[in-house]
Amino acid sequence: MAEHATVLVCRHLLPAGSDLLRDAGCELREGGLDATRERLLELASGCDAIVADPSVPVDAALLDTAGPSLRVVANFAVGYDNVDLEACRERGVAVTNTPGVLTNATAELALALTVAAARRTSEAEAELRAERWTGWDPAAYLGLELTGATFGVIGLGRIGTRYAELIRPLAGEILYAARSPKPEAERELGARKAELPELLERADVVSLHAPASADTHHLIGADELDAMPSHAVLVNTARGPLVDSSALAAALASGAIGAAGLDVYEDEPGVPAELLGAPRCVLLPHIGSATRTARDAMASLAARNALAVLAGEEPPNRVVR
Ligand code: DGY
Repeated sequence: MAEHATVLVCRHLLPAGSDLLRDAGCELREGGLDATRERLLELASGCDAIVADPSVPVDAALLDTAGPSLRVVANFAVGYDNVDLEACRERGVAVTNTPGVLTNATAELALALTVAAARRTSEAEAELRAERWTGWDPAAYLGLELTGATFGVIGLGRIGTRYAELIRPLAGEILYAARSPKPEAERELGARKAELPELLERADVVSLHAPASADTHHLIGADELDAMPSHAVLVNTARGPLVDSSALAAALASGAIGAAGLDVYEDEPGVPAELLGAPRCVLLPHIGSATRTARDAMASLAARNALAVLAGEEPPNRVVR
């Protein structure tokens, strides 16, 4: 039963989730947005559930500090690369995530970054705000026209597929790279499966939608950036470690690629100085799922996942048994 259960909310859970937990009789220990690792270890002892988010490493030490009462780690995110799944498995702790409810929000932000990077809106706006705009200039800020462009979507899960649906009206062609073929996307969207080298060589826009893992670490590095056309746009709303940021900054500086739009970074909240200084680069602070609709639904789903496990029921979104 969830009544009298203690839930460690590592940072902050929106009321759409925290109210559900309190209404079910849980006691909440909140770390707050500035919770340090030490503070989390202090709060973890004896808790029954942990609600974490992508910025909180949930490792063996945190699990052991929580101790044998811990039954579930409910991640307030679809990605769960912050959670040591094996350590959870070994300790019989369930892990859950929040898929589906942030698909539209994240795909919409990927579309926004695609357009913003292709049309260099950050640079242009920065010049205007710095009062350096001297008037209409036929040769200034020339960008990539997206109508008719070839789009390469890497990872055709929920978010990648929604992105492909959104860009479909613009796209000349949609290529995708994925572990298995996606017959529905091929049928409905006319997408064609390609090997990574072909996709990188042919796509005018490459958008990343794969999870972070050992297999996808630096999936896009110097060689891959070199293989892309010099006008190509790279968009990353997935996870920072998919892209070697030094190689990306160098490719932007040398003109090896046209532009980039990033929402995620290798060591958040740090953003490498070389990217901050890179030309033709739109940088956002990991706001892919930041719509009211998505964040409320994520909070509610994280709470419902935790409550289900505490009640001995099957949670809606189990990652680890
Ligand atoms: C997720 O859910 O994994 C997102 O990165 C959070 O916005």
